[in-house]
Amino acid sequence: MNVGVIGAGSWGIALTVLLNKNGSKVTVWSKFEDEVKMLSEKREYVDKLPGVKIPKTVDFTTDLEATVKNNEVLIMAVPSTFVRGTAHLMKDYVKDGQIIVNVAKGIEENTLMTLSDIIEEEIPQAKVAVMCGPTHAEEVGRGIPTTIVVGAREQRTAKLIQDLFMNETFRVYTSPDVLGMEIGSSLKNVVALAAGIADGLGYGDNTKAALITRGIAEISRLGIKMGGKAETFAGLTGIGDLIVTCASMHSRNRRAGILIGQGKTMKEAMDEVKMVVEGVYSAKAAMQLARKYEVELPIIEQVNEILFNDKPAAEAVRDLMIRDKKIEIGDGFEQ
Ligand SMILES: NC(=O)c1ccc[n+]([C@@H]2O[C@H](COP(=O)([O-])OP(=O)(O)OC[C@H]3O[C@@H](n4cnc5c(N)ncnc54)[C@H](O)[C@@H]3O)[C@@H](O)[C@H]2O)c1
Repeated sequence: MNVGVIGAGSWGIALTVLLNKNGSKVTVWSKFEDEVKMLSEKREYVDKLPGVKIPKTVDFTTDLEATVKNNEVLIMAVPSTFVRGTAHLMKDYVKDGQIIVNVAKGIEENTLMTLSDIIEEEIPQAKVAVMCGPTHAEEVGRGIPTTIVVGAREQRTAKLIQDLFMNETFRVYTSPDVLGMEIGSSLKNVVALAAGIADGLGYGDNTKAALITRGIAEISRLGIKMGGKAETFAGLTGIGDLIVTCASMHSRNRRAGILIGQGKTMKEAMDEVKMVVEGVYSAKAAMQLARKYEVELPIIEQVNEILFNDKPAAEAVRDLMIRDKKIEIGDGFEQ
C-alpha cells in the first residue's frame, strides 16, 4: 500500500521504517526544505533517532498536495500543536473516505477538542483513526517488541490499519473507544511531568508508583465522565502509556519535569529539552476539562500550579500529601 507520513520527527521516521519493512511504499512529508534535504542525503535522523537507517526506497518531500493525493493512507505524525494547521493545509487534497491515522497526542487548549476531532473538523471528508500506546520511537526504530492500539469508529478501518502496521516486533490491537484512547494518551504527559518533577526533587520509587497509580485514577475519572470506557484506562493507551512515559528517559515530558524539579523554570526546561513538551499544553486543557466536567484532578492541578503560577515543586507535593483524607476503595467496610 502507498502510505504518506505527514511529519518527519522521531515518531514519523520510526513508523516510516516499520511500514517500509512491512512492504509499504512510504513518502514522508516535512514542512521544512532543510529537513527533507538532510533526510534524503543522510538516510538517518542523527539528532532524533541515531542508528535508525532509512532505506533508499523511502521518499522525502515538501510537496503536501502530492503526498496527500498519491497515497491511500496518511499518517498524521506532526506534534499535537501543529495538527490543526497541517490538517487545514491538507483539506483540499483529501479524497472522500481517505483514511488519516493520527498518531500525535494532545488536547487543544480552549476548544478542548481531541486531535481526531480537530482533523474531522478541518477535513470532514476524511475517515479518521488514531493509533497510540506505550511506544517510544527510539525503541520501535530498533525493532524492540512493542504493542499499540488502533482506534476507529468502523472495525473495517481499524483492521486495515492493524494489517498495515503489525509484524513480529510490533503487535497492534484494535478498539472502538477513540475518545478514551485520546484522553489517556494526552493526559499521561501531564502526569509524566509530575513524575519527572518528583525525580528532580530526589524522591524515590514509592513516589513514582503513587503518581502513576493515582494519576491513572484521575485520568480515568475524567475520561469516563467524558464518555470513554473504563477498560481503556486499564489498557495499553491508559496505564500502559502512563507507565512507559513516567519511567523512561526517552520521555521529553519526564525530562522536562526533572529539570523543573531541580529548580529550572518551565521556559528554561522547555528550552533545554529542545522539543515540544506536549504535557505543558495538555496540562492547561486538562484543568479546563476538569472544570467543565466537574471532576477533581489533584495531581494535574498541582502540575498547573508549578508550571503557570510559579508554585515551588516541593510545596505542591506537600499539598498533595496533606489534602483531605480519602478512601481508595469505598465499598465493603463492615458497619
Ligand atoms: N517520539 C515518540 O516516541 C512518540 C511516540 C508516540 C507518539 N508520539 C507523538 O507523535 C507526535 C510527534 O512526535 P515526535 O516525537 O515525532 O516529535 P518531533 O518533535 O520529533 O517532531 C518534530 C517534527 O515535526 C515536524 N514539524 C515541526 N514543526 C512543524 C510545523 N510548524 N508544522 C508542521 N510540521 C512541523 C517536523 O517534521 C519536525 O521534524 C507527538 O504528538 C508525540 O506525542 C511520539
